[in-house]
Amino acid sequence: MRTIRRILVTGGAGFIGANFVHHLLASAKDCHVFNLDLLTYAGSRNNLRDVIDSPRHTFIQGDVADQDLVSRLLRDNEINAIAHFAAESHVDRSIAGPEAFIQTNIVGTFRLLEAARLAWQGKFGENVFLHVSTDEVYGTLAPDDEAFTETNAYAPNSPYAASKAASDHLVRAYFHTYGLRTVTTNCSNNYGPYQYPEKLIPLMIINALTGKPLPVYGDGLQVRDWLYVTDHCRAIETVLKRGRLGDTYNIGGLCERANIEIVQMVCGLLDELRPRSEGGSYYEQIVHVEDRPGHDRRYAIDPAKIGTELGWRPFETLQSGLRKTVLWYLDNQDWVNAVMGEKYREWIALNYAARTGGELE
Ligand code: NAD
Ligand code: DAU
Repeated sequence: MRTIRRILVTGGAGFIGANFVHHLLASAKDCHVFNLDLLTYAGSRNNLRDVIDSPRHTFIQGDVADQDLVSRLLRDNEINAIAHFAAESHVDRSIAGPEAFIQTNIVGTFRLLEAARLAWQGKFGENVFLHVSTDEVYGTLAPDDEAFTETNAYAPNSPYAASKAASDHLVRAYFHTYGLRTVTTNCSNNYGPYQYPEKLIPLMIINALTGKPLPVYGDGLQVRDWLYVTDHCRAIETVLKRGRLGDTYNIGGLCERANIEIVQMVCGLLDELRPRSEGGSYYEQIVHVEDRPGHDRRYAIDPAKIGTELGWRPFETLQSGLRKTVLWYLDNQDWVNAVMGEKYREWIALNYAARTGGELE
């Protein structure tokens, strides 16, 4: 069991990173978190408002691709663990403009690996570098295919997935070539508090409440494997402490659902918790729009390895996790208002104007 005392979390002002920072500060009482985040459109200090004053949390605004900065952080703070979340994470944005994905996800990961290799040279035995990746690197599944295991071949289909696949390969190479103590996690779709409303679940909650269309891509029968974000955070802490070095671990919720089912569940919860003032159901706002190019039909994770080797399993069910999520967005209108600024509206116009005839702008 490794002791995590001084950890660099990259991307800790984004959705999963911020949840992880909250989780770690609560669960590892003697751990100091150094949180490096560029604060792109997806990151916000607002996601850290409950922990920003903690004496065990230091926030640094900066780029993972800035190797000098990262090297200084590692050396000056005697950091012995890295949890690397920082990335461009949205598939639709990678289709609209892939360059930032190549820069942050590939070049950024490379710079971070280099900084760790050079700072930790000669004392590899004490350190660990955990790379947070995705199930999308495995490509798409047919309805009857077995769920992804760690031995599935990589077959990424979007620029986002390809950039994450490339970063996974770099991490693997640094383990085999330089002996850097790495471990990689490949997780399925997360949902929960602080998720930027470009992603399916928060977008649907917010559009529903503002009387806008709920844009389901294509027939809505694409399947994702949903995991509540705090279950992912526990899995990452487990792998950081006890994961086998050089290995990869698949993490998933054992919870495959078609997108249309998820949207209907969100509508059902909102009908119960915040009925429409004009009457009727939020279901009436669902529209089917032009599909995502190269849209993967199905993802599913087989989490047997992390279950049998490390004893992790998801605690939250889809019903309980989705209810918590909807309640969080209802209770945090100030957070919602703050993220829905000009940049957000520009993205919505770019991604949905043609799909919905302008109705979503
Ligand atoms: P997010 O987009 O919500 O957050 C990403 C964070 O990284 C933001 O705070 C952003 O400011 C920061 N960032 C971006 N570029 C940076 C750079 N160059 N330097 C420093 N910080 C930078 O993403 P998320 O959904 O929280 O995903 C986090 C990680 O988990 C990503 O690596 C993603 O690939 C992976 N992942 C996400 C999911 C999911 O369902 N969201 C599932 C599996 C894996
Ligand atoms: O599988 C893990 C991945 O899950 C992560 O690696 C990514 O970072 C994360 O963004 C997520 O990718 P997806 O593309 O699956 O997530 P998204 O929320 O964008 O879409 C989920 C599904 O919903 C997908 O099949 C596309 C569909 N969708 C999405 C949006 C935004 C719609 O039908 N309508 C929409 O408006």
